[in-house]
Amino acid sequence: MKYIIAVIQPDRLDEVLKRLTEKEIHLVTVSNVVGRGRQKGIAEVYRGHKEQGILLKKIKLEIAVNEEFVEPTIKAVIEGAITGQIGDGKIFVLDLPECIRIRTGERGGEAIG
Ligand SMILES: Nc1ncnc2c1ncn2[C@@H]1O[C@H](COP(=O)(O)OP(=O)(O)OP(=O)(O)O)[C@@H](O)[C@H]1O
Ligand SMILES: [Mg+2]
Repeated sequence: MKYIIAVIQPDRLDEVLKRLTEKEIHLVTVSNVVGRGRQKGIAEVYRGHKEQGILLKKIKLEIAVNEEFVEPTIKAVIEGAITGQIGDGKIFVLDLPECIRIRTGERGGEAIG
């Protein structure tokens, strides 16, 4: 199992969810976050001072999947989030040792979907 974390632009969320749904990937956690990538946030002028390193609003998606859904998930996120501009986002793929459905006690691949 893998735990996929994607940070995307807020205005791409609907499209990413649509692409995920098309691939039968429905279970997802979505958070409003702030962050910065290698541009360290876009410099802004604030009260006459040039501010560097500001934090920009982003959306974080977290999706736990069985192995066969790893590549479809990555593909769906990329297709939904890409504009070709800086700040389109990033995808992190982590190994996931365990998953437990609290209601039933199911574990692993049984619990994940
Ligand atoms: N190495 C990282 N660690 C943690 N969070 C990151 C990392 N890289 C990117 N992020 C998160 O992803 C968001 C989007 O990153 P972004 O797309 O700007 O990446 P980038 O590496 O700067 O690529 P680009 O040059 O295309 O902008 C950041 O605002 C931050 O929240
Ligand atoms: Mg960037």
